[in-house]
Amino acid sequence: MRHLPKLSEDTWYVGVNDRRKHLFENIWPLPEGVSYNSYVILDEKTVMLDTVDNFPMESYLDQVQFLLQGRTLDYLIINHMEPDHASGIQHIVRMFPNVTLVGNKKTFEFLKAYYGDFPNLLEVQDSATLDIGSRKLQFYFAPMVHWPEVMMTYDPKYKILYSADAFGSFGTLNGGVFDTHTDIENYWEEFTRYYSNIVGKYGVQVQKIMGRLSGLDVKIIAPLHGPIWTHPVSTKKALDFYDKWSKYETDKGVVIAFASMYGNTEVMADTIARELANMGIRNIRIHDVSKSHSSYIIRDIFKYRGVILGSPTYNADLHPNMKQLIDKLQHMGVKNHLYASFGTFTWAGQAVKKLTEFGQHIGWEQVYSPVEEQGSLKSDKFEQCVLLAQAMAEKLDSLYGK
Ligand code: FEO
Repeated sequence: MRHLPKLSEDTWYVGVNDRRKHLFENIWPLPEGVSYNSYVILDEKTVMLDTVDNFPMESYLDQVQFLLQGRTLDYLIINHMEPDHASGIQHIVRMFPNVTLVGNKKTFEFLKAYYGDFPNLLEVQDSATLDIGSRKLQFYFAPMVHWPEVMMTYDPKYKILYSADAFGSFGTLNGGVFDTHTDIENYWEEFTRYYSNIVGKYGVQVQKIMGRLSGLDVKIIAPLHGPIWTHPVSTKKALDFYDKWSKYETDKGVVIAFASMYGNTEVMADTIARELANMGIRNIRIHDVSKSHSSYIIRDIFKYRGVILGSPTYNADLHPNMKQLIDKLQHMGVKNHLYASFGTFTWAGQAVKKLTEFGQHIGWEQVYSPVEEQGSLKSDKFEQCVLLAQAMAEKLDSLYGK
């Protein structure tokens, strides 16, 4: 007899793990895999909330069939149409041909675009309810968190918020699916990376939905990826993180990301980092952009106020890997950072000029003039690197205290 995890007397987790996918959205690394969370309520009506991605489909459908025990499925609520959750819709409709798909106007536009026409659609409005027997589920539209059709569903009987991608985490669920059934400390870094990589661009929209939900009595947050939040301490921590990051608030610390072909730009990075440490800065993260995937650099930039970027000039431009990083940062519109830059060149310097333009364009506060060296680091520019680090540290001290 199998035991599916229960969120309440009549609500089950039927999600699956994916340990095969290497890149989420074919961009973001998944060293610890990812889970696709789906839920089923067995009230007078039977209700599913979202489905899963294609790969683990068979084991998913097997769980669903087991749980339904011959009952039909009345409703499939589509909180999010991205295919990592929507790929199962066609399979569920094949299994339960009379199921009614519940979504909003945008949901159904995307449903048709991806998977064609379906006969039984129930279009709902923001704040509408759906009577399923012992309670009415309520819908909260959350546009651009992180797609336009996204909505959240609230179950007032058990105070469960089905939050779509919000409050999700990379990483499979290894045994326990609840925060209380796993070592939750292992998930915070991947929770942070998920927010910064997937949701981080939409801070304003996250603030908006959090404001709307603040009046709701929520005991359980059931996202589409990662652990289900049930414990008051970890749930509050997850909520506080979202509130903080969506306001682009950061901690005291510095991310140094550099590109280096022959090690000279890296020497400048280490020089700056050493002086930051001498000045008392303890959170210093150094990333070589040719080694660290931008996913991790962006995660750290969401955590820390200071950002220092360095690059050699490469074909009269930035090193291509640095260019890729700043393109992503620009695309995400990451706000509210202290900034400085450095670089090297052989015959004509261009990198530092480009890095300066980037800082101006994204609106970060430059704390010191850029430092650019020809070839290897020599005493004059060494001193400039030290002064740059001191300026960053002093600015951080003035904002956060020593
Ligand atoms: Fe987990 Fe936006 O899909």
